[in-house]
Amino acid sequence: MPSESVSSASDGSRQYFSARPDIASRPGAVRLHLPDVSLDLATDRGVFARNDVDPGTKLLLLHGPDATATDSELVDLGCGYGPIALVLAHRNPQARIWAVDVNERARSLCRANAADNGLENITVVAPDEFPSDLPVERIWSNPPIRIGKAALHDLLTRWIDRLAPGGSAHFVVQKHLGSDSLHRWLEQSGWATTRRRSQSAYRLLDVSARTAGTSDRHGGPGPLPATSE
Ligand SMILES: C[S@@+](CC[C@H](N)C(=O)[O-])C[C@H]1O[C@@H](n2cnc3c(N)ncnc32)[C@H](O)[C@@H]1O
Repeated sequence: MPSESVSSASDGSRQYFSARPDIASRPGAVRLHLPDVSLDLATDRGVFARNDVDPGTKLLLLHGPDATATDSELVDLGCGYGPIALVLAHRNPQARIWAVDVNERARSLCRANAADNGLENITVVAPDEFPSDLPVERIWSNPPIRIGKAALHDLLTRWIDRLAPGGSAHFVVQKHLGSDSLHRWLEQSGWATTRRRSQSAYRLLDVSARTAGTSDRHGGPGPLPATSE
């Protein structure tokens, strides 16, 4: 079952976007196997996709944009236990990867997973710890659709408008969770958006940074929200 669906209470992933999941810890482990890298990842209750890496996340990692050779700043927005951040770190050794999440249990797991896999170019932070003046080259995300449309739009607006000129954001969204309406909203909000891939239940969306003169219907970037709730 795709993990973005709300799971049973016993699974514990219902609380995956709480700042502090109150469900008791039950450590687990998953293996992410891709053609270029295999990673063993620690998971836990109260984090997204604790039983297996999400199929949408795998699709994004298989078909997202190529690695960058520059020393740019890349963001994994909503890092969970770190599958996207760790693969980006492996593929982009010269880049700095910012793994951002509201869920402190997810952040701890991501930090531990980066260390255990020998990846030193990952910085794990809460949203309000991200440097406010740092331009971002690329954002990768399996975004938290379940936080609700208004909160999601606010979150994406604030982060996409952090992109440096020429930068881009890359999202995976399930069709039945509103990928097409999200695509329309991105376009209507002034970001050029293309569908990179449509496969089974998922769509990959590429979003370009605004170019000079593009209208910003949201009044420009503001301070980053500390939490999604
Ligand atoms: C769909 S999960 C993806 C997790 C991970 N990237 C993966 O692919 O397994 C979305 C993540 O976004 C996080 N999240 C929710 N609201 C957030 C916010 N305002 N800022 C940053 N992360 C947030 C959740 O805690 C969750 O870990």
